[in-house]
Formats: sequence, structure tokens, C-alpha cells
Amino acid sequence: MDTYKRTIVITGGAGFIGNHVVRLFVNKYPEYRIICLDALTYAGNLANLADVADKPNYEFAHLDICDFDAILALLRTKHVDGIIHLAAESHVDRSISDPFAFARTNVLGTLSLLQAARTYWESLPEKYEGKRFYHISTDEVYGALALTCPEGKAAEFSAHEVYGDDFFVETSKYAPHSPYSASKASSDHFVRAFHDTYGLPTIVTNCSNNYGPYQFPEKLIPLFINNIRHRKPLPVYGKGENVRDWLYVEDHARAIDLIFHKGKIAETYNIGGFNEWKNIDIVRILIKTVDRLLGRKEGEDLNLITYVTDRLGHDARYAIDSRKLQRELGWEPSLQFEEGIERTVRWYLDNQEWLDNVTTGEYQNYYEKMYGKR
Ligand code: NAD
Ligand code: DAU
Repeated sequence: MDTYKRTIVITGGAGFIGNHVVRLFVNKYPEYRIICLDALTYAGNLANLADVADKPNYEFAHLDICDFDAILALLRTKHVDGIIHLAAESHVDRSISDPFAFARTNVLGTLSLLQAARTYWESLPEKYEGKRFYHISTDEVYGALALTCPEGKAAEFSAHEVYGDDFFVETSKYAPHSPYSASKASSDHFVRAFHDTYGLPTIVTNCSNNYGPYQFPEKLIPLFINNIRHRKPLPVYGKGENVRDWLYVEDHARAIDLIFHKGKIAETYNIGGFNEWKNIDIVRILIKTVDRLLGRKEGEDLNLITYVTDRLGHDARYAIDSRKLQRELGWEPSLQFEEGIERTVRWYLDNQEWLDNVTTGEYQNYYEKMYGKR
């Protein structure tokens, strides 16, 4: 008999956001068994979870979400009653060069997970009572907002007084542009369809860009911090005018915890920090911060900025209205952007070994070191 109060599977737990969610749940809820389920693609790194790997309520399941039979067997044998689904192919540029991988994992993988949850939970006497399938999605499903910023204003700082009251809300139309966002949009539709058709107790959240420790250095912030440190060119797409809305990853993890426990079934919540920045301004802040922390002359590395051909179909602006989440569940971001960026840059500078292991591919041997041969 299980001694745990609940058993929760967190898919994609070895990735960037997933490891913060796993850490939060393992430490905050010793009464829950937390199973990190991950296929360990190039983006999954068990070293991200080294500090919780020995906790008694933590388990790792090396599985692909597309493997329906294996997922169903895990749900059954471990009596899983909650699923927090983060596993995905997540990088827009990769989706442009290999869209099939995104359809496979994000669409078929999500469908296989939904069907496994439905099959197992419907077989129980209590059926869906006390169960929860929480799907983590992105603001990119809503497409792109216009850049209405008055000349020069965004350079001062972020926020909605700069761009006006034009946000993605929970009822915004789905209008994905990239293969990545199209695959996430499709997965969101499947999740809602499983609620509406079978009564599966689902929740969907759509979050803005996350930043913080353990992000794979193909994404803007860790890639550029590493390049500045090593004085490599910083490839800014187009004119660097695109706007993203940045949220510190631990604030996202806190929102996920709150919504998993208190969110209403069948609801959608947007998550974001009202923190918009033009890419080029982020790049300047990163250069300034890295230079200062490394004792270089401030701004010495501005000449690394290299404008390159724009990303295909590059969305102009994302901005999330998270007031529903604030109003209904009382969530607010805890960190000011300046503090979050300072912490983030310090973390990457202090964890050069982590970055080196990732950039050399050494991290892929971590599984064998932890668990023996695959
Ligand atoms: P990530 O790429 O860092 O991590 C993805 C994880 O999923 C990796 O550990 C990988 O090994 C695992 N994975 C991939 N394919 C799998 C499969 N077939 N089976 C099992 N595991 C698999 O991604 P992230 O940035 O942490 O994003 C996590 C989730 O949050 C994604 O669903 C993404 O769409 C969403 N999201 C991300 C952001 C962001 O800014 N990073 C913002 C909003 C929403
Ligand atoms: O909005 C949420 C999304 O944020 C998540 O759903 C995605 O999983 C996540 O990857 C992220 O998508 P973006 O495309 O916004 O993130 P990325 O870090 O790739 O790029 C941020 C911005 O910086 C974007 O406008 C493209 C630009 N960029 C990116 C890279 C990697 C550059 O100018 N140069 C670069 O080398």
C-alpha cells in the first residue's frame, strides 16, 4: 500500500522549467511522491535535479510520453492521481528546421498521455474524483501582438504603459505562427477536448517567456550570457525590436503549484509578469551585467552585438495579462526584473561547469553515472 498522500507525475521534469517544479514539489510536499518522467532528449539533464535525487519522495522514470503502454503501466503501478505536463520540444528555431519532431512530441505525446490518464482513471471505482491533468502551455499560441510602442520609450524600461493595454487574455483567439506554437496550440485543443468529451479533469495555463538558472543555452538569455563571457558574437535576429514578456522561472513554478492545488477544473489561466522588453534592450542589460560581474569595463562588450538574418515568421510582440490569476488565486510575481536578471547572470557565471557540460554534450552521460546503463 502506498504511504504517500498523492502521487504526481511531472513530465519534462529534467528540462528547464520542469526541474524547478520538481524541486519545489519534492521539498514542499514530503507527503507526496513526485515522479519526474522524462525521455532525456538533448534538452533533458538529470544534473539539474542532483540536489533532490536522493530525497525519499523523488523518483525518476525514463520514459517517452509517446509510449502509451509504458505510460499507462506507470500510472497503474504507481497509482498516479496528478499529472503536471511540461514535456515538449520547446525551441522555436528547431521547430522551423524540424517540424515533425514537434508534432510527434507535443501533439501525439500529449494525446498519448491524455489517453493513458483517461484509461487508468476511468478504470478506478472513484474514476476522476481527486484527479488532475494540468497541461503547461505558452503565450505563443495566441500569435503576435502589434508593436505600438512610441519611439524610444521601450528603451527606458518595460511594462504596459509603454505598449498600451494590448495583451493576450485567456479568451484571445488562437493564432499560432511557428511550427512550435502550432504544435502547442494543437496540444491545448486536445487537452480541452478530453475534458469536454470524457470529463477528464484538466487545467491549461499559458505562460510568457521564462528566464533563470538551468535553461538550455540555445535560448536567448543563457546563450548570450555564455557568449559574452567568452567574447563570442551575439546573434541578434533582425533589428532586435521584437518584444518578449519575461518571468523568473521560480515564479512560474510557484504559479504551477498554486494552480495545481487551487485552480478550477476546465479553466485556463494566463501567467506573466507584466514585464516586456525589446530584445536589444535585454542584450544591452546582459552585456552590462556580465561585464560588471566579471570586473570588465562596463559596456566593454557592446561590440559583440551582431545583427543577423531574422527568424522566419518572427513574432513581433508577446504580452500576457495575468490579472485573472491574480484576482482569482492571488498569485503575483515575487521578483523585480533587475533582481531576477542579476541572480540569473550570477548563476550562469558561477556554474560555468554546468554550461560547459551542456555545450560539450558531457551532461548526456549523467544518466549512466546516476542509474547505470540505459
Ligand atoms: P525544455 O526544452 O527545457 O525541457 C523539455 C523537457 O521535456 C526536457 O527535459 C526533455 O528531455 C523532455 N522531453 C522532450 N520530449 C519528450 C518526450 N517525448 N517524452 C518525455 N520527455 C520529453 O523546455 P522548457 O523551456 O522547460 O518548457 C517546458 C514546458 O513549458 C513546455 O511545454 C513549453 O512549451 C512550456 N513553456 C515554456 C516557456 C519558456 O519560456 N521556456 C514558456 C511558456 C511555456
Ligand atoms: O513565450 C514563451 C516561449 O518563450 C516558450 O513557449 C518557448 O518554449 C521559449 O523557447 C520562448 O520562445 P522564444 O522564441 O521567445 O525564446 P528564445 O529565447 O528563442 O528567443 C527570445 C527572443 O530572442 C526572440 O524574439 C528571438 C530572439 N533571439 C533568440 C536567439 C536564440 C535572438 O535574437 N537571437 C538568438 O540567438
